[in-house]
Amino acid sequence: MPASTETIHYVCTVRSSRAKAVDLARAEIAALLRDCDLTLPAGGPLSERPGVYWVDLAEVHARTMEERAARLGYTERIEELAATGPPRRNRPDGPLKWKGSWYDPLTVWESDPEEVRLSSPDMRDFALRGEDGRVRTARGYRGDGSSLGPKALPVPDCRLLVNLVFAPEVRSLLDPFAGAGGIVHEASRNGYSVTSMDIEPNVAPGLEGLGATHQEGDAGAMPFDSASFDAIATELPYAEERPGTVRRWTDEMLRVLRPGARCAVMCSLAQRDAIAAAASRERAVVELSEEIDRRGTRVAVIALRR
Ligand SMILES: C[S@@+](CC[C@H](N)C(=O)[O-])C[C@H]1O[C@@H](n2cnc3c(N)ncnc32)[C@H](O)[C@@H]1O
Repeated sequence: MPASTETIHYVCTVRSSRAKAVDLARAEIAALLRDCDLTLPAGGPLSERPGVYWVDLAEVHARTMEERAARLGYTERIEELAATGPPRRNRPDGPLKWKGSWYDPLTVWESDPEEVRLSSPDMRDFALRGEDGRVRTARGYRGDGSSLGPKALPVPDCRLLVNLVFAPEVRSLLDPFAGAGGIVHEASRNGYSVTSMDIEPNVAPGLEGLGATHQEGDAGAMPFDSASFDAIATELPYAEERPGTVRRWTDEMLRVLRPGARCAVMCSLAQRDAIAAAASRERAVVELSEEIDRRGTRVAVIALRR
């Protein structure tokens, strides 16, 4: 029997803490389902709700969508519009009418706040090497407070970056500025073979404890062969604004990616131009460049394809 080609309409809701970042949430789900023929209609029902967007998907991919949804960072709920008949009475919680037909919104996936809380840096044990060389375990390590040092990235942002580089063939992922390991944690959870790097020696035991193969060193001169990795997801140290340094970091990231592979970066707005310049020189494609407000600071999310 031929597979059903019926289209399922979904209404997706962005996590309230990221409600203004609808475009990033759309980019994230499009990347995570890039092998599923998804379309993102510009409008749909329930548009009066804050932070909604719409996904159309062939029925044959519905199970994949439900299985992968648990990886999403910026979306917190997905409802399928199930066809139904008109309401018997005009009840506010009854079916909704859209394009002349009646639908019941049925929740097919919802983020579990407790799971997200337990995945957060506050709840993680992280092994740190002290200046005396001894390793001690810290609960809730969020960085050393310095401008260039580690600062733990919240779970939704880590998931966003890891998902932006998703492709079914991805096996190995590098985070060259790994810090307290939020991205490493999420990528390991997705089953990737993760390599981390950081210039600070103290975070090495913690990153290894999160499942990474760790390399201490400068991301401007990585000790990896060219075309070694299937994907990179990372968060730059925002305080570094010298364009030459940021261009060198970008050149190195593109060098160690295999051709056709992707790199997702969260960076400061000041770093964005240098990344774009390096990408253009290397003929990498800028697939995404979006700004987002993070606790009052505007940052950029960039996705490149080598
Ligand atoms: C913004 S933090 C990354 C935080 C990380 N995303 C997390 O969730 O914990 C940036 C990291 O880059 C590291 N770093 C700074 N300069 C570096 C360099 N040249 N090479 C490699 N790592 C560097 C810092 O030590 C810091 O841990």
